[in-house]
Amino acid sequence: MTQFNETELTAAVIESFEETPDPRVKFLLEELVKSMHGYVSKTGLTFDEWNYAIEFLTRVGQKCTPTRQEFILLSDVFGVSMLVDAVNHRERDGASETTVLGPFYVGEHKVKPHGSDISPELPGERMFVQSRVTDLNGKPLAGVPVDVWHADGDGYYDSQRPDYDVTGPSSRARFVTDADGRLFFRTILPCSYPIPTDGPVGEMILQVRRHPMRPAHIHFLVNAKGYEPLITHVFIDGDKYLDSDVVFGVKDELIAKVEKRTDATTPDGKPVKAPWHLMTYEFHMKPGKGEAPQPMGVKAAEPA
Ligand code: BEZ
Ligand code: FE
Repeated sequence: MTQFNETELTAAVIESFEETPDPRVKFLLEELVKSMHGYVSKTGLTFDEWNYAIEFLTRVGQKCTPTRQEFILLSDVFGVSMLVDAVNHRERDGASETTVLGPFYVGEHKVKPHGSDISPELPGERMFVQSRVTDLNGKPLAGVPVDVWHADGDGYYDSQRPDYDVTGPSSRARFVTDADGRLFFRTILPCSYPIPTDGPVGEMILQVRRHPMRPAHIHFLVNAKGYEPLITHVFIDGDKYLDSDVVFGVKDELIAKVEKRTDATTPDGKPVKAPWHLMTYEFHMKPGKGEAPQPMGVKAAEPA
């Protein structure tokens, strides 16, 4: 009979992966076991605590549906998603900063003409968003699909509403950059909002006395051929949660000053009722390849 002490046990489990054909898989499993064993030894984990962890992870899995990923939310609130983002974007070379995709990228980004109002039925303060996509030398990139999505004035994404299948997308669209690399659209000024708290992850956040809030932002996914896909947000300067985002997603460079304006027209020359807000932000793309991730349950977006 084989019997192991604490140290020998870790070595034995690592050795059990010896025949793993893929060296990367072997390495990932070995390191995972080392980290988990280290955690158990360092904390002296009790049976009650181990049981609690198993029961908690079971509830996380049970909360998942084709359109809700509680495990990603768990990764987000532990800062793991931002760490994965960081280790995969170490050299930015002047390219725009990245941040988490979040669970509300559900595809269905219909191509809209520049200037469209993507939140026509929503109450809220009106905002005009103007942006440009360039390479690292400032050369405009034309014909680039840019997906945008954000929460409504109550802090909910369209896809969180029970009637989403009937009512369809709102505050969510795709714009294709013009010859000068520009895109522009109308919407409402988004507000800060809580991550879902009706599941085990939200319960944990509240139990440990963290707040569940994300600072106000608009999500952008810029997908230019020959460039790394850019998954990011633009945050609204002045939001009270910028320093304590529950998913650690804020980077200084991603905070935009949003001007309050009283002009009678927006930059595209159309009349507007004052006051309104103007968000201006440029994206600088890093040469490379790779496809934007398609999260679980996401329907393919309309081709540009
Ligand atoms: C979001 O910004 O939509 C989001 C990101 C991470 C967790 C929850 C929500
Ligand atoms: Fe968001």
